[in-house]
Amino acid sequence: MAAKLGLDATGIDFSPRAIRLAEQKAQERGLDARFFVADALELESSSDKYDTVLDCGLFHVFDDRDRARFVKSLTATVEADGRYFMLCFSDQQPGDWGPRRVSRAEIQSSFTDGWRIDSIEKSLIEITIDPEGACAWLAVIARS
Ligand SMILES: C[S@@+](CC[C@H](N)C(=O)[O-])C[C@H]1O[C@@H](n2cnc3c(N)ncnc32)[C@H](O)[C@@H]1O
Repeated sequence: MAAKLGLDATGIDFSPRAIRLAEQKAQERGLDARFFVADALELESSSDKYDTVLDCGLFHVFDDRDRARFVKSLTATVEADGRYFMLCFSDQQPGDWGPRRVSRAEIQSSFTDGWRIDSIEKSLIEITIDPEGACAWLAVIARS
C-alpha cells in the first residue's frame, strides 16, 4: 500500500513465509518495496530509522513483557516526530477466540515515555473467519 502511494517502503515479519508472500505480491503488482525477516522486538539492533510505522495485527500478539519490549524497540527505530499507526484487536470484540483483546487504557499506558497519543478510535480489523471483521482500535501515536 505504501509503495503504491510512491513512498519508500520496508516491510518486516519474523515469518520467512510471510515475507516471501509479500515479495511475490509486490513483484506481481510491479511495486518497489523492501521486505526483511526481522524480529519487531529487536529493531534497535539495526541503524535504520523510519518516519512512519504501520502495524496491522502485531501489537495484540504480545504478552505484557513483550509488549514493553516492543515499545522500547519501536522507540529506538521511529525518528523524532515520527508516527506509529496501529490497528489491533479490541476488548469490545465479544468471545475469547483469536488474538488477545486490548483495551484503550492498555494502549495509553504502553505509550508514555517519549510518545504522545494523538487518537485511539473504534475501528474494524479484517479477519479470515468472518467477512464482518472484528472490533479493533486504530491508534495514531507520535514520538514526542
Ligand atoms: C495477526 S498476524 C497479522 C498479519 C498481517 N499484518 C495482516 O494484517 O494480515 C501477526 C503477524 O505478526 C508476525 N509477528 C509476530 N511476532 C513478531 C515479531 N516479534 N516480529 C515480527 N513479526 C512478528 C507474525 O508472523 C504474523 O505474520
